[in-house]
Amino acid sequence: MNNDQQITLINALFTLKDKKTTQLSEQVNFSDCKRYLGEDGLFENEMNALFNKLPTPYIHQSQLTENNSFVTVQASIGSLLFTRDENGKAHAFHNVCRHRGTQLVDEESGCARRFRCPYHAWSYDNQGNLSSIPHGEQCFPSLDKTQLGLKEIPCIERYGFIWLHASSDLALDDFLQGAGADLQWLNMDDLEVFTSTKKVWRANWRIIADGGLETYHFRFAHKNTIAPFFHDNLSIVDFFGPHARMILPRSSLESLAKKPQDKWALREHSHLTYALMPMTTFLVQHNHVEWIQSTPLSPTETQITITTLYPAPKAPLTDSDFNMWKLNHAITVKTLDEDFEIAQSIQKGLKSGANESFIFGRSEGALHLLHQHIESKL
Ligand code: FES
Ligand SMILES: [Fe+2]
Repeated sequence: MNNDQQITLINALFTLKDKKTTQLSEQVNFSDCKRYLGEDGLFENEMNALFNKLPTPYIHQSQLTENNSFVTVQASIGSLLFTRDENGKAHAFHNVCRHRGTQLVDEESGCARRFRCPYHAWSYDNQGNLSSIPHGEQCFPSLDKTQLGLKEIPCIERYGFIWLHASSDLALDDFLQGAGADLQWLNMDDLEVFTSTKKVWRANWRIIADGGLETYHFRFAHKNTIAPFFHDNLSIVDFFGPHARMILPRSSLESLAKKPQDKWALREHSHLTYALMPMTTFLVQHNHVEWIQSTPLSPTETQITITTLYPAPKAPLTDSDFNMWKLNHAITVKTLDEDFEIAQSIQKGLKSGANESFIFGRSEGALHLLHQHIESKL
């Protein structure tokens, strides 16, 4: 994002603050509660049209730096095995043996040139080729090994991540519809994974998605964590196609009024949230990014991984720096858990029939747009 764009956004925030208001949609909207139940084939449609298909950044490059390293990830299409082969090329495979379907790799990460299935020891190299079958000539005399490599899914490396379901830069930028320029600006390839926290929440993914696109709840739901650092109910949301960017100014934004505009830096005085369709969120702070990857497991369960990406340290971290980052990650997790607890509470009440629809107020207009984008893809 260039300086002019940052100045425009900061001025827009000042204007809203002076008028004691926030970005408002034209009207109040209603969201049919059936959207959140995933019934009558809806959940399967959502998986096929969105999660199993759209480009998704499942791995940060710093998780797969070495040649012959690997990482496994749980996705909506099942367990995935990401490898970097001996030539440095990244691959993504279904983590499933081609003999009788056992999960091939159990470890979360490591280094390996070959993977051996625990059931009957069929072995694959890290380019996915089936390399050996015990008693192969005797037991499988006519089998063509070249046709039985691991099932590969296209992936590319861009903006610091390995994106599944993306086969070229062009296709990815097409999908990002302009958000790619912002991702470039974030320089996430200069960051590294500090740590991750993973948990399964008993809530439909759309309930969780709603919670990430408004600040109307901050003062109440986050009163014990981050609310004191932010303005009440003040944010700006822009869409790049189906992807949203929300700017949440910190209370310190006011200090910019005394500085010349060419010294204004948005990241120093606000949080930026990028919510990429279907459900990747980058919560951008001053010098680091919290990456929140959500994977629906069923209509009522969503796995959420919160990863702190921090500036790659030039030397081993001192104890105090390590503790500072650890605390930072813990505060993020605690704050987001407040959102996810509420999502679980909403899920519990869904089937009661008390609401046929939820109400999106004028400061929750982004939620209405989000669901319109989702519906358009189903
Ligand atoms: S299922 Fe993998 S070797 Fe048999
Ligand atoms: Fe929240």
